[in-house]
Amino acid sequence: MGYTGPLADKDRIFTNVYGFQEPWLKAAQARGDWDDTKTLMAIGQDGIIDKVKASGLRGRGGAGFPTGMKWGFMPKEPKPGKPNFLVINADESEPGSCKDREIIRHDPHKLIEGALIAGFAMRARAGYIYIRGEFIQETRVLERAVAEAYEAGLLGKNAAGSGYDFDLFVHRGAGAYICGEETAMLESLEGKQGKPRLKPPFPAGAGLYGCPTTVNNVESIAVVPTILRRTPEWFAGIGREKNEGTKLFQLSGHINTPCVVEESMSISFRELIDRHGGGIRGGWDNLLAVIPGGSSVPLVPAHEIIDAPMDFDGLKALGSGLGTAAVIVMDKSTDIVRAISRISYFYKHESCGQCTPCREGTGWMWRMMEKLREGDASVGDIDKLLDVTKQVEGHTICALGDAAAWPIQGLVKHFRPELERRIAERAGRTMLEAAE
Ligand SMILES: Cc1cc2nc3c(=O)[nH]c(=O)nc-3n(C[C@H](O)[C@H](O)[C@H](O)COP(=O)(O)O)c2cc1C
Ligand code: SF4
Repeated sequence: MGYTGPLADKDRIFTNVYGFQEPWLKAAQARGDWDDTKTLMAIGQDGIIDKVKASGLRGRGGAGFPTGMKWGFMPKEPKPGKPNFLVINADESEPGSCKDREIIRHDPHKLIEGALIAGFAMRARAGYIYIRGEFIQETRVLERAVAEAYEAGLLGKNAAGSGYDFDLFVHRGAGAYICGEETAMLESLEGKQGKPRLKPPFPAGAGLYGCPTTVNNVESIAVVPTILRRTPEWFAGIGREKNEGTKLFQLSGHINTPCVVEESMSISFRELIDRHGGGIRGGWDNLLAVIPGGSSVPLVPAHEIIDAPMDFDGLKALGSGLGTAAVIVMDKSTDIVRAISRISYFYKHESCGQCTPCREGTGWMWRMMEKLREGDASVGDIDKLLDVTKQVEGHTICALGDAAAWPIQGLVKHFRPELERRIAERAGRTMLEAAE
Protein backbone atom coordinates (compact mmCIF):
# COMPACT_ATOMS: atom_id res chain seq x y z
CA MET A 1 0.00 0.00 0.00
CA GLY A 2 1.26 3.48 -0.88
CA TYR A 3 0.75 6.61 1.15
CA THR A 4 -2.81 7.75 1.55
CA GLY A 5 -2.38 11.45 2.06
CA PRO A 6 -1.93 14.23 2.43
CA LEU A 7 -0.37 14.59 -1.00
CA ALA A 8 3.10 16.14 -0.93
CA ASP A 9 3.51 19.19 -3.18
CA LYS A 10 6.30 17.43 -5.05
CA ASP A 11 3.81 14.71 -6.07
CA ARG A 12 1.28 17.04 -7.65
CA ILE A 13 0.58 16.44 -11.35
CA PHE A 14 -1.68 19.44 -11.94
CA THR A 15 0.61 22.21 -10.75
CA ASN A 16 -1.45 24.93 -12.42
CA VAL A 17 -4.94 23.77 -11.56
CA TYR A 18 -5.78 27.13 -9.94
CA GLY A 19 -4.54 29.10 -12.92
CA PHE A 20 -1.86 31.08 -11.07
CA GLN A 21 0.28 30.76 -14.20
CA GLU A 22 -0.60 30.97 -17.88
CA PRO A 23 -2.04 27.93 -19.64
CA TRP A 24 -0.08 28.50 -22.85
CA LEU A 25 2.73 26.46 -24.33
CA LYS A 26 5.72 28.39 -23.02
CA ALA A 27 4.44 28.35 -19.44
CA ALA A 28 3.39 24.71 -19.79
CA GLN A 29 6.89 23.78 -20.99
CA ALA A 30 8.36 25.59 -18.00
CA ARG A 31 6.17 23.34 -15.83
CA GLY A 32 7.65 20.28 -17.53
CA ASP A 33 5.03 19.50 -20.17
CA TRP A 34 6.30 18.45 -23.61
CA ASP A 35 9.74 17.80 -22.13
CA ASP A 36 11.33 15.37 -24.57
CA THR A 37 8.01 13.71 -25.45
CA LYS A 38 9.84 11.94 -28.28
CA THR A 39 11.85 9.92 -25.73
CA LEU A 40 8.67 8.93 -23.91
CA MET A 41 7.25 7.70 -27.21
CA ALA A 42 10.44 5.78 -27.88
CA ILE A 43 9.34 3.43 -25.07
CA GLY A 44 7.13 1.98 -27.82
CA GLN A 45 3.41 1.41 -28.12
CA ASP A 46 3.18 -1.79 -26.10
CA GLY A 47 5.80 -0.49 -23.68
CA ILE A 48 3.63 2.53 -22.90
CA ILE A 49 0.53 0.35 -22.44
CA ASP A 50 2.51 -1.88 -20.05
CA LYS A 51 3.64 1.12 -18.05
CA VAL A 52 0.12 2.52 -17.78
CA LYS A 53 -1.03 -0.93 -16.62
CA ALA A 54 1.80 -1.03 -14.05
CA SER A 55 0.82 2.39 -12.70
CA GLY A 56 -2.58 1.00 -11.68
CA LEU A 57 -4.37 3.97 -13.32
CA ARG A 58 -8.13 3.43 -13.35
CA GLY A 59 -10.40 5.58 -15.52
CA ARG A 60 -11.29 8.92 -13.96
CA GLY A 61 -14.61 9.25 -15.85
CA GLY A 62 -16.66 7.37 -13.28
CA ALA A 63 -16.50 3.62 -13.76
CA GLY A 64 -12.86 3.15 -12.74
CA PHE A 65 -11.98 0.71 -15.53
CA PRO A 66 -8.19 0.03 -15.74
CA THR A 67 -6.87 2.40 -18.41
CA GLY A 68 -3.93 0.32 -19.67
CA MET A 69 -6.14 -2.74 -20.08
CA LYS A 70 -8.65 -0.68 -22.09
CA TRP A 71 -5.92 0.51 -24.46
CA GLY A 72 -4.82 -3.10 -24.88
CA PHE A 73 -8.21 -3.97 -26.43
CA MET A 74 -7.43 -1.84 -29.49
CA PRO A 75 -6.24 -3.69 -32.62
CA LYS A 76 -2.46 -3.71 -32.88
CA GLU A 77 -2.60 -3.74 -36.65
CA PRO A 78 -5.55 -1.65 -37.82
CA LYS A 79 -7.15 -2.96 -41.03
CA PRO A 80 -6.95 -0.76 -44.15
CA GLY A 81 -9.82 1.72 -44.15
CA LYS A 82 -10.51 1.08 -40.45
CA PRO A 83 -8.16 3.38 -38.50
CA ASN A 84 -8.08 3.40 -34.71
CA PHE A 85 -9.43 6.50 -32.98
CA LEU A 86 -9.02 8.08 -29.56
CA VAL A 87 -11.96 10.07 -28.20
CA ILE A 88 -11.49 12.21 -25.11
CA ASN A 89 -14.55 12.77 -23.00
CA ALA A 90 -14.72 16.43 -21.92
CA ASP A 91 -18.49 16.48 -21.54
CA GLU A 92 -18.40 16.74 -17.74
CA SER A 93 -22.09 17.16 -17.04
CA GLU A 94 -22.44 15.03 -13.92
CA PRO A 95 -23.90 17.23 -11.16
CA GLY A 96 -21.09 17.98 -8.71
CA SER A 97 -18.30 17.31 -11.21
CA CYS A 98 -16.05 20.25 -12.05
CA LYS A 99 -12.48 19.01 -12.55
CA ASP A 100 -12.02 18.41 -16.28
CA ARG A 101 -12.92 22.03 -17.01
CA GLU A 102 -10.12 23.14 -14.63
CA ILE A 103 -7.59 20.99 -16.46
CA ILE A 104 -8.71 22.44 -19.78
CA ARG A 105 -8.77 26.04 -18.56
CA HIS A 106 -5.42 26.03 -16.82
CA ASP A 107 -3.37 23.00 -17.88
CA PRO A 108 -4.54 22.15 -21.43
CA HIS A 109 -1.11 21.03 -22.60
CA LYS A 110 -1.14 18.16 -20.10
CA LEU A 111 -4.21 16.90 -21.92
CA ILE A 112 -2.84 17.52 -25.40
CA GLU A 113 0.49 15.82 -24.69
CA GLY A 114 -1.42 12.96 -23.05
CA ALA A 115 -3.60 12.69 -26.16
CA LEU A 116 -0.54 12.29 -28.39
CA ILE A 117 1.02 9.64 -26.16
CA ALA A 118 -2.24 7.74 -25.61
CA GLY A 119 -3.14 8.00 -29.30
CA PHE A 120 0.28 6.68 -30.26
CA ALA A 121 0.08 3.80 -27.75
CA MET A 122 -3.29 2.65 -29.09
CA ARG A 123 -2.21 3.14 -32.73
CA ALA A 124 -4.72 5.94 -33.32
CA ARG A 125 -4.05 8.32 -36.18
CA ALA A 126 -6.43 10.93 -34.82
CA GLY A 127 -8.01 11.99 -31.58
CA TYR A 128 -11.18 13.97 -30.91
CA ILE A 129 -11.76 15.97 -27.76
CA TYR A 130 -15.54 16.12 -27.32
CA ILE A 131 -16.19 19.15 -25.16
CA ARG A 132 -19.47 20.10 -23.52
CA GLY A 133 -21.34 22.78 -25.47
CA GLU A 134 -21.62 25.15 -22.52
CA PHE A 135 -17.83 25.27 -22.08
CA ILE A 136 -17.34 28.24 -24.38
CA GLN A 137 -14.34 29.74 -22.60
CA GLU A 138 -12.74 26.31 -22.15
CA THR A 139 -13.20 25.56 -25.85
CA ARG A 140 -11.40 28.78 -26.72
CA VAL A 141 -8.48 27.87 -24.47
CA LEU A 142 -8.32 24.36 -25.82
CA GLU A 143 -8.47 25.43 -29.46
CA ARG A 144 -5.70 27.96 -28.92
CA ALA A 145 -3.55 25.41 -27.08
CA VAL A 146 -4.07 22.83 -29.86
CA ALA A 147 -3.13 25.47 -32.47
CA GLU A 148 0.03 26.27 -30.49
CA ALA A 149 0.94 22.60 -30.39
CA TYR A 150 0.50 22.29 -34.17
CA GLU A 151 2.59 25.40 -34.75
CA ALA A 152 5.38 24.02 -32.56
CA GLY A 153 5.34 20.71 -34.46
CA LEU A 154 4.01 18.81 -31.44
CA LEU A 155 0.93 17.59 -33.31
CA GLY A 156 0.35 16.65 -36.94
CA LYS A 157 3.02 15.08 -39.14
CA ASN A 158 6.01 13.69 -37.24
CA ALA A 159 4.41 14.87 -33.98
CA ALA A 160 7.02 16.08 -31.46
CA GLY A 161 9.73 14.69 -33.75
CA SER A 162 8.62 11.15 -32.93
CA GLY A 163 8.17 10.01 -36.51
CA TYR A 164 4.47 9.38 -35.75
CA ASP A 165 1.65 11.36 -37.39
CA PHE A 166 -1.20 12.32 -35.10
CA ASP A 167 -4.02 14.81 -35.52
CA LEU A 168 -6.16 16.19 -32.73
CA PHE A 169 -9.55 17.85 -33.19
CA VAL A 170 -11.74 19.76 -30.76
CA HIS A 171 -15.45 19.07 -31.21
CA ARG A 172 -18.12 21.02 -29.33
CA GLY A 173 -21.24 19.18 -28.23
CA ALA A 174 -24.60 20.90 -28.11
CA GLY A 175 -24.97 20.38 -24.37
CA ALA A 176 -26.71 17.19 -23.21
CA TYR A 177 -25.78 15.05 -20.22
CA ILE A 178 -26.35 11.85 -22.16
CA CYS A 179 -23.61 12.76 -24.66
CA GLY A 180 -21.13 12.02 -21.85
CA GLU A 181 -22.02 8.34 -22.18
CA GLU A 182 -19.34 7.01 -24.48
CA THR A 183 -21.47 5.51 -27.25
CA ALA A 184 -23.89 8.48 -27.25
CA MET A 185 -20.78 10.61 -27.65
CA LEU A 186 -19.74 8.61 -30.72
CA GLU A 187 -23.20 9.04 -32.24
CA SER A 188 -23.06 12.77 -31.57
CA LEU A 189 -19.56 13.01 -33.08
CA GLU A 190 -20.94 11.34 -36.18
CA GLY A 191 -23.53 14.11 -36.39
CA LYS A 192 -26.49 12.11 -35.11
CA GLN A 193 -28.65 12.48 -32.01
CA GLY A 194 -26.68 11.52 -28.91
CA LYS A 195 -28.41 8.24 -28.14
CA PRO A 196 -26.41 5.41 -26.56
CA ARG A 197 -25.71 2.27 -28.60
CA LEU A 198 -26.37 -1.25 -27.44
CA LYS A 199 -23.17 -3.02 -26.36
CA PRO A 200 -21.65 -5.28 -27.62
CA PRO A 201 -20.05 -4.39 -29.92
CA PHE A 202 -17.85 -2.30 -27.63
CA PRO A 203 -16.13 0.79 -29.04
CA ALA A 204 -12.75 -0.99 -29.26
CA GLY A 205 -14.40 -3.35 -31.78
CA ALA A 206 -16.70 -0.90 -33.56
CA GLY A 207 -16.69 2.71 -32.38
CA LEU A 208 -16.47 5.99 -34.26
CA TYR A 209 -17.63 5.44 -37.88
CA GLY A 210 -17.51 1.72 -37.13
CA CYS A 211 -13.74 1.89 -36.45
CA PRO A 212 -11.91 0.74 -33.31
CA THR A 213 -12.17 3.51 -30.72
CA THR A 214 -11.24 4.13 -27.12
CA VAL A 215 -13.09 6.75 -25.10
CA ASN A 216 -11.24 8.15 -22.09
CA ASN A 217 -11.91 10.88 -19.59
CA VAL A 218 -9.85 14.12 -19.65
CA GLU A 219 -8.12 13.40 -16.33
CA SER A 220 -7.27 9.80 -17.32
CA ILE A 221 -5.40 11.10 -20.37
CA ALA A 222 -3.85 14.19 -18.78
CA VAL A 223 -2.01 12.22 -16.06
CA VAL A 224 -0.28 9.85 -18.51
CA PRO A 225 2.77 11.97 -19.49
CA THR A 226 3.65 12.53 -15.81
CA ILE A 227 3.22 8.81 -15.06
CA LEU A 228 5.73 8.00 -17.80
CA ARG A 229 8.14 10.74 -16.72
CA ARG A 230 8.02 9.96 -13.02
CA THR A 231 7.62 6.17 -13.46
CA PRO A 232 4.59 3.97 -12.92
CA GLU A 233 6.03 2.89 -9.56
CA TRP A 234 5.86 6.48 -8.33
CA PHE A 235 2.16 6.71 -9.26
CA ALA A 236 1.43 3.27 -7.82
CA GLY A 237 3.13 4.35 -4.59
CA ILE A 238 0.22 6.67 -3.83
CA GLY A 239 -3.11 5.29 -2.56
CA ARG A 240 -4.18 1.77 -1.62
CA GLU A 241 -3.65 -1.29 -3.77
CA LYS A 242 -5.89 -1.26 -6.88
CA ASN A 243 -6.77 2.37 -6.10
CA GLU A 244 -3.50 3.99 -6.99
CA GLY A 245 -2.49 7.49 -7.89
CA THR A 246 -3.43 11.08 -7.31
CA LYS A 247 -6.98 12.28 -7.90
CA LEU A 248 -8.72 15.58 -8.44
CA PHE A 249 -11.45 15.75 -5.80
CA GLN A 250 -14.26 18.27 -6.19
CA LEU A 251 -15.61 19.35 -2.83
CA SER A 252 -18.97 21.10 -2.75
CA GLY A 253 -22.00 21.61 -0.56
CA HIS A 254 -22.04 22.43 3.13
CA ILE A 255 -18.36 22.84 3.79
CA ASN A 256 -16.57 26.05 4.58
CA THR A 257 -14.27 26.24 1.54
CA PRO A 258 -15.56 24.36 -1.51
CA CYS A 259 -12.74 23.63 -3.95
CA VAL A 260 -11.13 21.34 -6.50
CA VAL A 261 -7.99 19.75 -5.10
CA GLU A 262 -5.51 17.10 -6.15
CA GLU A 263 -5.03 14.62 -3.34
CA SER A 264 -3.81 11.07 -2.77
CA MET A 265 -6.30 8.40 -3.59
CA SER A 266 -7.58 6.70 -0.44
CA ILE A 267 -7.23 9.77 1.78
CA SER A 268 -9.88 9.60 4.50
CA PHE A 269 -13.01 11.70 4.10
CA ARG A 270 -12.31 13.51 7.37
CA GLU A 271 -8.81 14.51 6.33
CA LEU A 272 -9.92 15.57 2.86
CA ILE A 273 -12.58 17.87 4.27
CA ASP A 274 -10.57 19.23 7.18
CA ARG A 275 -7.53 19.98 5.07
CA HIS A 276 -9.15 21.39 1.96
CA GLY A 277 -12.83 21.98 2.62
CA GLY A 278 -12.33 24.04 5.79
CA GLY A 279 -14.41 21.52 7.76
CA ILE A 280 -18.15 20.92 7.79
CA ARG A 281 -20.38 23.95 8.17
CA GLY A 282 -21.35 23.96 11.86
CA GLY A 283 -18.80 21.26 12.76
CA TRP A 284 -18.56 17.51 12.31
CA ASP A 285 -21.63 16.81 14.46
CA ASN A 286 -23.65 18.74 11.89
CA LEU A 287 -22.84 16.35 9.02
CA LEU A 288 -25.88 14.49 7.70
CA ALA A 289 -24.78 12.59 4.59
CA VAL A 290 -22.43 12.70 1.61
CA ILE A 291 -22.83 11.90 -2.07
CA PRO A 292 -19.19 10.99 -2.72
CA GLY A 293 -18.95 10.57 -6.48
CA GLY A 294 -21.34 12.86 -8.34
CA SER A 295 -25.12 12.69 -8.35
CA SER A 296 -25.36 9.17 -9.75
CA VAL A 297 -23.94 7.33 -6.76
CA PRO A 298 -25.89 6.46 -3.59
CA LEU A 299 -25.47 8.75 -0.59
CA VAL A 300 -23.55 7.58 2.47
CA PRO A 301 -24.69 8.65 5.96
CA ALA A 302 -22.29 10.66 8.12
CA HIS A 303 -21.22 7.95 10.56
CA GLU A 304 -20.26 5.57 7.74
CA ILE A 305 -18.20 7.94 5.66
CA ILE A 306 -16.27 10.03 8.18
CA ASP A 307 -13.28 7.71 8.45
CA ALA A 308 -13.69 5.89 5.13
CA PRO A 309 -10.95 5.88 2.49
CA MET A 310 -11.95 7.95 -0.54
CA ASP A 311 -11.24 5.48 -3.32
CA PHE A 312 -13.03 3.07 -5.66
CA ASP A 313 -13.03 0.06 -3.36
CA GLY A 314 -13.51 1.93 -0.08
CA LEU A 315 -16.70 3.60 -1.28
CA LYS A 316 -17.94 0.47 -3.04
CA ALA A 317 -17.69 -1.32 0.30
CA LEU A 318 -20.10 1.31 1.67
CA GLY A 319 -22.60 0.59 -1.10
CA SER A 320 -21.66 3.75 -3.01
CA GLY A 321 -18.86 4.68 -5.40
CA LEU A 322 -16.02 7.10 -6.12
CA GLY A 323 -17.55 8.01 -9.49
CA THR A 324 -15.83 11.19 -10.60
CA ALA A 325 -14.84 12.06 -6.99
CA ALA A 326 -17.35 14.91 -6.95
CA VAL A 327 -18.01 15.01 -3.23
CA ILE A 328 -21.33 16.65 -2.32
CA VAL A 329 -21.55 17.31 1.41
CA MET A 330 -24.92 17.78 3.11
CA ASP A 331 -25.32 19.06 6.64
CA LYS A 332 -28.32 18.64 8.91
CA SER A 333 -30.13 21.63 7.43
CA THR A 334 -30.66 19.58 4.24
CA ASP A 335 -34.09 18.33 3.29
CA ILE A 336 -32.64 15.01 2.17
CA VAL A 337 -35.84 13.82 0.49
CA ARG A 338 -36.08 17.03 -1.50
CA ALA A 339 -32.39 16.80 -2.45
CA ILE A 340 -32.77 13.29 -3.86
CA SER A 341 -36.05 14.22 -5.53
CA ARG A 342 -34.23 17.05 -7.33
CA ILE A 343 -31.65 14.55 -8.55
CA SER A 344 -34.50 12.30 -9.77
CA TYR A 345 -35.85 15.23 -11.75
CA PHE A 346 -32.46 15.68 -13.38
CA TYR A 347 -32.38 12.07 -14.62
CA LYS A 348 -35.98 12.28 -15.83
CA HIS A 349 -35.03 15.40 -17.78
CA GLU A 350 -31.85 13.88 -19.25
CA SER A 351 -33.20 10.46 -20.24
CA CYS A 352 -32.82 10.08 -24.00
CA GLY A 353 -36.07 8.08 -24.08
CA GLN A 354 -34.81 5.08 -26.03
CA CYS A 355 -35.63 2.40 -23.49
CA THR A 356 -38.97 2.03 -21.75
CA PRO A 357 -37.75 1.34 -18.19
CA CYS A 358 -35.69 4.55 -18.24
CA ARG A 359 -38.09 6.75 -20.22
CA GLU A 360 -41.13 5.78 -18.14
CA GLY A 361 -39.31 4.81 -14.94
CA THR A 362 -37.40 8.06 -14.40
CA GLY A 363 -40.62 10.09 -14.64
CA TRP A 364 -42.52 7.68 -12.39
CA MET A 365 -39.74 7.64 -9.80
CA TRP A 366 -39.52 11.44 -9.74
CA ARG A 367 -43.29 11.81 -9.31
CA MET A 368 -43.24 9.31 -6.44
CA MET A 369 -40.28 11.12 -4.88
CA GLU A 370 -42.25 14.36 -4.99
CA LYS A 371 -45.16 12.64 -3.21
CA LEU A 372 -42.81 11.27 -0.58
CA ARG A 373 -41.30 14.69 -0.12
CA GLU A 374 -44.74 15.91 0.94
CA GLY A 375 -45.55 12.70 2.82
CA ASP A 376 -48.47 12.31 0.42
CA ALA A 377 -48.01 8.53 0.04
CA SER A 378 -48.36 5.27 1.93
CA VAL A 379 -45.64 3.18 3.54
CA GLY A 380 -46.32 0.59 0.83
CA ASP A 381 -45.36 3.22 -1.77
CA ILE A 382 -41.81 3.22 -0.42
CA ASP A 383 -41.55 -0.50 -1.21
CA LYS A 384 -43.19 0.04 -4.58
CA LEU A 385 -40.66 2.77 -5.38
CA LEU A 386 -37.79 0.53 -4.35
CA ASP A 387 -39.20 -2.22 -6.54
CA VAL A 388 -39.39 0.14 -9.53
CA THR A 389 -35.74 1.21 -9.02
CA LYS A 390 -34.80 -2.49 -9.21
CA GLN A 391 -36.77 -2.89 -12.43
CA VAL A 392 -34.94 0.05 -13.98
CA GLU A 393 -31.46 -0.85 -12.68
CA GLY A 394 -29.62 -3.14 -15.07
CA HIS A 395 -32.49 -3.23 -17.57
CA THR A 396 -31.55 -0.36 -19.83
CA ILE A 397 -29.21 0.29 -22.75
CA CYS A 398 -26.91 2.59 -20.81
CA ALA A 399 -26.05 3.31 -17.20
CA LEU A 400 -28.30 6.38 -16.94
CA GLY A 401 -31.01 4.03 -15.75
CA ASP A 402 -28.76 2.83 -12.91
CA ALA A 403 -27.76 6.41 -12.16
CA ALA A 404 -31.43 7.31 -11.72
CA ALA A 405 -32.12 4.28 -9.52
CA TRP A 406 -29.13 4.38 -7.15
CA PRO A 407 -29.68 7.73 -5.40
CA ILE A 408 -33.22 6.62 -4.49
CA GLN A 409 -32.01 3.24 -3.29
CA GLY A 410 -29.45 5.02 -1.09
CA LEU A 411 -32.16 7.26 0.35
CA VAL A 412 -34.49 4.38 1.20
CA LYS A 413 -31.64 2.30 2.65
CA HIS A 414 -30.42 5.02 4.99
CA PHE A 415 -33.37 7.39 5.50
CA ARG A 416 -36.46 5.17 5.47
CA PRO A 417 -37.50 6.39 8.95
CA GLU A 418 -37.51 9.96 7.62
CA LEU A 419 -39.76 8.93 4.70
CA GLU A 420 -42.12 7.14 7.10
CA ARG A 421 -42.10 10.10 9.49
CA ARG A 422 -43.30 12.42 6.70
CA ILE A 423 -46.08 10.00 5.76
CA ALA A 424 -47.23 9.72 9.39
CA GLU A 425 -47.03 13.48 9.89
CA ARG A 426 -49.09 14.16 6.78
CA ALA A 427 -51.64 11.49 7.76
CA GLY A 428 -51.89 13.06 11.23
CA ARG A 429 -52.44 16.50 9.71
CA THR A 430 -55.13 15.17 7.39
CA MET A 431 -56.96 13.51 10.31
CA LEU A 432 -56.82 16.70 12.33
CA GLU A 433 -58.14 18.71 9.41
CA ALA A 434 -61.01 16.23 8.94
CA ALA A 435 -61.90 16.45 12.67
CA GLU A 436 -62.01 20.26 12.64
C1 LIG B 1 -25.14 9.01 -18.53
C2 LIG B 1 -23.67 8.97 -18.51
C3 LIG B 1 -22.94 10.16 -18.55
C4 LIG B 1 -21.54 10.13 -18.54
N1 LIG B 1 -20.85 11.32 -18.55
C5 LIG B 1 -19.49 11.30 -18.56
C6 LIG B 1 -18.75 12.52 -18.62
O1 LIG B 1 -19.31 13.62 -18.65
N2 LIG B 1 -17.39 12.43 -18.63
C7 LIG B 1 -16.73 11.22 -18.61
O2 LIG B 1 -15.51 11.19 -18.67
N3 LIG B 1 -17.41 10.06 -18.56
C8 LIG B 1 -18.77 10.07 -18.55
N4 LIG B 1 -19.45 8.88 -18.53
C9 LIG B 1 -18.67 7.63 -18.59
C10 LIG B 1 -18.29 7.31 -20.04
O3 LIG B 1 -19.34 6.53 -20.62
C11 LIG B 1 -17.00 6.49 -20.13
O4 LIG B 1 -17.11 5.38 -19.30
C12 LIG B 1 -15.77 7.28 -19.73
O5 LIG B 1 -15.62 8.44 -20.49
C13 LIG B 1 -14.55 6.39 -19.92
O6 LIG B 1 -13.38 7.08 -19.54
P1 LIG B 1 -12.34 6.49 -18.48
O7 LIG B 1 -12.16 5.04 -18.80
O8 LIG B 1 -11.12 7.29 -18.71
O9 LIG B 1 -12.96 6.69 -17.15
C14 LIG B 1 -20.86 8.89 -18.52
C15 LIG B 1 -21.59 7.70 -18.47
C16 LIG B 1 -22.97 7.74 -18.46
C17 LIG B 1 -23.72 6.45 -18.41
S1 SF4 C 1 -31.00 4.14 -20.18
FE1 SF4 C 1 -32.11 6.04 -20.54
S2 SF4 C 1 -30.58 7.44 -21.33
FE2 SF4 C 1 -29.72 5.37 -21.51
S3 SF4 C 1 -30.30 4.69 -23.55
FE3 SF4 C 1 -31.94 4.04 -22.23
S4 SF4 C 1 -33.46 5.71 -22.30
FE4 SF4 C 1 -31.53 6.51 -23.09
